[in-house]
Amino acid sequence: MQQATPVNPAAVRPIAILGGTGPAGTGLALRWARAGEAIIIGSRDAQRAQATAAKIKQSAGEQANVSGMENAAACASADLLMLTVPFESQATLLKQLKPAIRAGSILIDATVPLAAGVGGRASRTLGVWQGSAAQQTAELVPKGVSVVAAFHNVSADLLNGDAPLDCDVIVCSDDPDAAQLARKLAAKIPGVRAIDGGKLENSRIVEQITALLIGLNIRHKGHSGIRITGLPPESYQ
Ligand SMILES: NC(=O)c1ccc[n+]([C@@H]2O[C@H](COP(=O)([O-])OP(=O)(O)OC[C@H]3O[C@@H](n4cnc5c(N)ncnc54)[C@H](OP(=O)(O)O)[C@@H]3O)[C@@H](O)[C@H]2O)c1
Repeated sequence: MQQATPVNPAAVRPIAILGGTGPAGTGLALRWARAGEAIIIGSRDAQRAQATAAKIKQSAGEQANVSGMENAAACASADLLMLTVPFESQATLLKQLKPAIRAGSILIDATVPLAAGVGGRASRTLGVWQGSAAQQTAELVPKGVSVVAAFHNVSADLLNGDAPLDCDVIVCSDDPDAAQLARKLAAKIPGVRAIDGGKLENSRIVEQITALLIGLNIRHKGHSGIRITGLPPESYQ
């Protein structure tokens, strides 16, 4: 078990992970809790959120600052939100949570619009009218909330482990400050480099890469990720 970096109370800006009880949410929570971030696990069920938070604390160490609550309460308690729910529930959940999302919040969206596949394994994406799952999110959040698309190509299995990752995170947003913050969070995960992927509309391409990675994982029985090469060193955070 790796011990979490102690939380600096003066620097605490909690990250609320909506749908944080699934593998993508718990993996990000674990890595950020180890890096000293304060984490709120969000769920439709407060008890499930608390049980998940307790498990993450066990892996991250007693110093870790991880709590759990129902999704709306999590939105009300944080202005930095991470969305990790299946695409088919994304729109309905965001409509429900809209009144609870604080003005000026940043919402980082990892949703991939996957089509259901044979045996529950999907390796192709659905068309999204808005262009991408993240652009759909941008339409559904309250005005003034900045949406960032990131973390689509990182394996949740690997995030939930202890080893450094071998993956770049491409971050897309129309708000440069929000994107910068998301890149800083990505770079807190050992082995991850964050790269500015430009405008939110580019999330369409990044989301689709995940379908390719899932297909590769099925074919080669692995946990693939991506590395972008050839950019100047300052491009990688
Ligand atoms: N798994 C990966 O490797 C990975 C990597 C990158 C991106 N992603 C993307 O990240 C998202 C989450 O992935 P995941 O594998 O963690 O998904 P998941 O396990 O299927 O779902 C995550 C959580 O979403 C909540 N949820 C499920 N159905 C819901 C509904 N109808 N309404 C509201 N909440 C619902 C559940 O939490 P509660 O039941 O506790 O509310 C669940 O634990 C997906 O969009 C996925 O494409 C996944």
